[in-house]
Amino acid sequence: MNQSAPPLSPEVATLRDERWQLRIRGLRKRFAPGAPEVLRGIDLDLERGRVNVVLGGSGQGKSVLIKHFIGLLRPDAGHVWVDGIDPATLDSAEIARFRRKFGMVFQMAALFDSLTVEENCAFPLVEHTKKSPVEIRSIVFDRLAALGLSGAEGKYPGELSGGMRKRVGLARALVLEPEILLYDEPTTGLDPLATENVDRMILETGQRFGVTSVVISHDMASVFRIADRIAMMHEGVIAAVGTAEEIRATDNDYVRRFVTTSGVAHAGIAGPAGAP
Ligand SMILES: Nc1ncnc2c1ncn2[C@@H]1O[C@H](COP(=O)(O)OP(=O)(O)OP(=O)(O)O)[C@@H](O)[C@H]1O
Ligand SMILES: [Mg+2]
Repeated sequence: MNQSAPPLSPEVATLRDERWQLRIRGLRKRFAPGAPEVLRGIDLDLERGRVNVVLGGSGQGKSVLIKHFIGLLRPDAGHVWVDGIDPATLDSAEIARFRRKFGMVFQMAALFDSLTVEENCAFPLVEHTKKSPVEIRSIVFDRLAALGLSGAEGKYPGELSGGMRKRVGLARALVLEPEILLYDEPTTGLDPLATENVDRMILETGQRFGVTSVVISHDMASVFRIADRIAMMHEGVIAAVGTAEEIRATDNDYVRRFVTTSGVAHAGIAGPAGAP
């Protein structure tokens, strides 16, 4: 298990790397002079085509971190490179194009309540492409079918369960064929069975569409089910990185406590027994 990612020379940083799609070095962020520093030098590599989980307690800065990936926040110091591109260096036209690489699945699904499922999913295509209504409908129906939502096209978000809303949120994130899917706490507020469904959806979507998944979570049971790699965030840095097995066997005190109190340290990864 590596505790921190190695330094990157400027020549390497700006190149596309076959294995690591996102490379983060020395990332620091505070929101006001005198306020506590939220990110205190994040070093992290995220693997192409895999499920990368960023784990950490509430308020540790996980959402702040992923906002730097898409250029929504600018670092005080350090860099994010996505295929060698640092979003902090892009102008507004370039950043719009850059963000097309990403699909975002938000904590609360963030659907428009007054639009149907179909209209919600069509929205990014209407906004960002010149595709015809017929093409748009075909893409939307295809994504909804892939996520088991055929028949729900005409429903409104208020008529759906929490788990279905998450899937609609994912279908919408997929219509623009992103290379990278960012999930910010996708299972918050779901019961253990719905959580397992969302976990399965994350795994299947990753495989079927070949995307790089970045999942922000503090649900250990879920994390151990889905993660190829886990990065543990604590006090503004990455405290540990590794596979689920490596994280389970860690000698880092904070990580060990986090794993132990979640109840999944020895529970295995098959069942939802440790889910909150
Ligand atoms: N725009 C902002 N302005 C000021 N402070 C902010 C802003 N965004 C985040 N913070 C602060 O940064 C810290 C980290 O917030 P963040 O939302 O990243 O936590 P988190 O790890 O995602 O937590 P949770 O698991 O509860 O979602 C918090 O103290 C928060 O108040
Ligand atoms: Mg958050």
